[in-house]
Amino acid sequence: MLQPRPRTATSGLFDAVSDREPIDNTTWLRQDESENAGNGLEVSAIGYGAMGLSHGYGPPVDRREAVALIRAAVERGVNFFDTAEVYGPYTNEELLGETLAPFRGEVIIATKFGLGVDEPCRHGGPDSRPERIRQSAEQSLRRLRVEAIDLYYQHRVDPNVPIEDVAGTVRDLIAEGKVRHFGLSEAGARTIRRAHAVQPVTAVESEYSLWWREPEESILPTLDELGIGFVPFSPLGRGFLTGRIDATRTFDSTDFRSSVPRFEPANLKANQALVAALKDIAAKKQATPAQIALAWVLAQKPWIVPIPGTTKLPRLEENLGAVDVVLTGDDLREIDDALARIPVQGHRYSEASQQMVDR
Ligand SMILES: NC(=O)c1ccc[n+]([C@@H]2O[C@H](COP(=O)([O-])OP(=O)(O)OC[C@H]3O[C@@H](n4cnc5c(N)ncnc54)[C@H](OP(=O)(O)O)[C@@H]3O)[C@@H](O)[C@H]2O)c1
Repeated sequence: MLQPRPRTATSGLFDAVSDREPIDNTTWLRQDESENAGNGLEVSAIGYGAMGLSHGYGPPVDRREAVALIRAAVERGVNFFDTAEVYGPYTNEELLGETLAPFRGEVIIATKFGLGVDEPCRHGGPDSRPERIRQSAEQSLRRLRVEAIDLYYQHRVDPNVPIEDVAGTVRDLIAEGKVRHFGLSEAGARTIRRAHAVQPVTAVESEYSLWWREPEESILPTLDELGIGFVPFSPLGRGFLTGRIDATRTFDSTDFRSSVPRFEPANLKANQALVAALKDIAAKKQATPAQIALAWVLAQKPWIVPIPGTTKLPRLEENLGAVDVVLTGDDLREIDDALARIPVQGHRYSEASQQMVDR
């Protein structure tokens, strides 16, 4: 069985660069005792999603500010950074590569292959042809300035390429020392099993939060059974669950949320009821709604590591503070009961984005 992992103190790796308490660490352990034993990846309890610095939520952040924020995350004990080839495209990987170069060997950078690169802020469809994966890996290695990609996710499952071929290509890259761990993003349970049979999967990254709980149906049980870690993306509901997006907020075409039904004006208004419930719970726990949203994700399983994104230092600190918010069984039941009474309005994705999700 997968061992529950207590959140243990860090090794003091980051003490030299900070006088703050580093956040606790967690470890993904392999479930099996076979050749994969000990092949886990040790990461901070909360990672950092870097996408919004370059992509998806409006114009890119000023480079100097972005560098300072990433360094601040390292200083505060974050050792797990999430990017992708298509963020920018390319510029988000370059930013992390340059900024994290002094911390090589101390931080873990996850990146992704498998989406065609189109115009800025929009990406093309799935493309996981083996030759394309190899080309992406070489380019990501250069941009990230590393000898091996710590964790290499397929960004979306490609219906035109058998997952065994994808897993086999990553297995070869691992054998060549170019990749350390294999991951999948928004893959369905059957795909996860097929991939894992060819090359053990270390982590699956999919959307998961208080307002998107579908992974509980078949993904989380599958990961539990196979001993695979889970990395929820958009754990703050793309900002909505922080309570700082009111009913009047609009999004321009450089912001991905302009295409998301949940953020359409009528739905945004209706969904404020969810925020109101979250604010009540947060007040009782003397925390912020963002911290409750993250603490809830953390409380689900010991092998779940959320990667919230922010472009602002006070919010980074607020989000990291979620590790100190302990939700009891009663708290979790109260949250479940409150949210069960409030059906979320609007899909989480446009039809085009939803079509790329493997289930
Ligand atoms: N695998 C995939 O397909 C996939 C898809 C989407 C995302 N991701 C990864 O997951 C990461 C996180 O997801 P995400 O960025 O989409 O969503 P998220 O982390 O749920 O939310 C990010 C948004 O919340 C705001 N925010 C963050 N902390 C806040 C706080 N304490 N108070 C108020 N607002 C706050 C940010 O705005 P400010 O910047 O203004 O603070 C940003 O707009 C991404 O960076 C990316 O690396 C992966």
